[in-house]
Amino acid sequence: MHIAIIMDGNGRWAKARHLPRTAGHKKGADAARAAIEACVELRVPCLTLYAFSSENWNRPEEEVGELMNLLKFYLGRELASLHKNGVRMRFIGDRSRLSEDIRERLAQAEELTANNTRLWLQVALSYGSRQEIVQAARALAEQVSAGTLDLAAIDEKLLERHLYTAGLPDPDLLIRTGGDQRISNFLLWQCAYTEFYFTDTLWPDFSKENLREAIEDFRGRERRFGKTEAKVSNVE
Ligand code: IPE
Ligand code: IPE
Ligand code: MG
Repeated sequence: MHIAIIMDGNGRWAKARHLPRTAGHKKGADAARAAIEACVELRVPCLTLYAFSSENWNRPEEEVGELMNLLKFYLGRELASLHKNGVRMRFIGDRSRLSEDIRERLAQAEELTANNTRLWLQVALSYGSRQEIVQAARALAEQVSAGTLDLAAIDEKLLERHLYTAGLPDPDLLIRTGGDQRISNFLLWQCAYTEFYFTDTLWPDFSKENLREAIEDFRGRERRFGKTEAKVSNVE
């Protein structure tokens, strides 16, 4: 139902070729396009791509600026074909840190594609999962203090509805490229029972075939959700 990807390794890909890091990010954007196409082809209904974390703001100003320029460029170039292919876009993250023109473009893309149904594409941008949970907690606290929400009504479902990802199922499979085996502040709440797939392949090299391999690996796993093996196979 839902694949999430931490697209890591652009910098190392470029470094290995004695190219500037931006060259890796450009190639990485092509790999993102291929992953989106593959999800459309394989009828995966939902894809979340981690494009820029809240911690990535701490990178050198020049790299951040180039990443933002690339984002604008690719969004401008790809939007029409994404729309044509039935992709519905949603951007998740702290938009207040993005520039006004980028915020406008994101809103336009979301509006244009709002009625598409083939693939839900979430792009995590200026995204940090702890911050996401904090803003959800704050929204609930505000309602309680305003007297519009009963404390006892706060449960997992309600908190979930205040996350950026509200309305989408939790990821079934999380892929991280680039060889590191960590989650880097991505979908902490949502990945409670997600299957993780780590690969040394650097993101710019990640192909449709690699995505198929990851899905194949996922298919061979048994998800127990805390139950025993016998109970899992006994479809309830
Ligand atoms: C991932 O690649 C892209 C972003 C975080 C924007 P990196 O830029 O982190 O590449 P490495 O990890 O340094 O190789
Ligand atoms: C995670 O990659 C964020 C994205 C891929 C957008 P990082 O390169 O920022 O993660 P760390 O710093 O290695 O944990
Ligand atoms: Mg990295």
